[in-house]
Amino acid sequence: MKPIKLALFASGTGSNAEIIIRYFANNPSVEVVFVLSNKEEAPIVSKANSLGVSVTVCTNKEVEDASFLVHLCDSKEIDYIILAGFLRKIPNTLIAVYTEKIINIHPSLLPKYGGAGMYGKYVHEAVLAAKEHETGISIHYVSEEFDSGRIIAQYSVPLLSNETIETIQEKVHQLEHEHFAPTIAREILDM
Ligand code: GAR
Repeated sequence: MKPIKLALFASGTGSNAEIIIRYFANNPSVEVVFVLSNKEEAPIVSKANSLGVSVTVCTNKEVEDASFLVHLCDSKEIDYIILAGFLRKIPNTLIAVYTEKIINIHPSLLPKYGGAGMYGKYVHEAVLAAKEHETGISIHYVSEEFDSGRIIAQYSVPLLSNETIETIQEKVHQLEHEHFAPTIAREILDM
């Protein structure tokens, strides 16, 4: 049987992308075909290279030009696109071609703390300012509106009274590292 082909889009550190690559490395049912990054100097670029996964670096203009991404994913017969810390807006044309085939991870319990400008540390900053007693992660399909596609899974973690942005970020990253790859596996392999 042909493996299910994944493209990973990542803009930064890529700790989630790295875990996904390692998680599926010995699974013949899933192939991580390439990593796309819009930042040449992003740590994920060298990480993916060293893990033997091909990397495409693109410009922000290319991300906005849906035909570039559609052609790239089409030419590599990509089945699912995984956004693992990809911080650019995905063009609507690509979302239309890959309806419920683009999976994003968001570092909050959506619908709280989602939307334009809510990413990375900005999310944790808002959670801290609101004195939330818990936060978490949302793994969801991408739809035209930011952070509002169908939710696949959410995981939460309690917050203490002395949290900082950094401790919240650490807790959220731990949840992401534990749950993102297995959630993708369950969703795309119908497990
Ligand atoms: C992750 O926490 C992810 O949830 C967040 O970027 C971080 C990337 O970390 N994504 C968003 O905020 C999307 N709105 P990583 O580069 O170490 O995987």
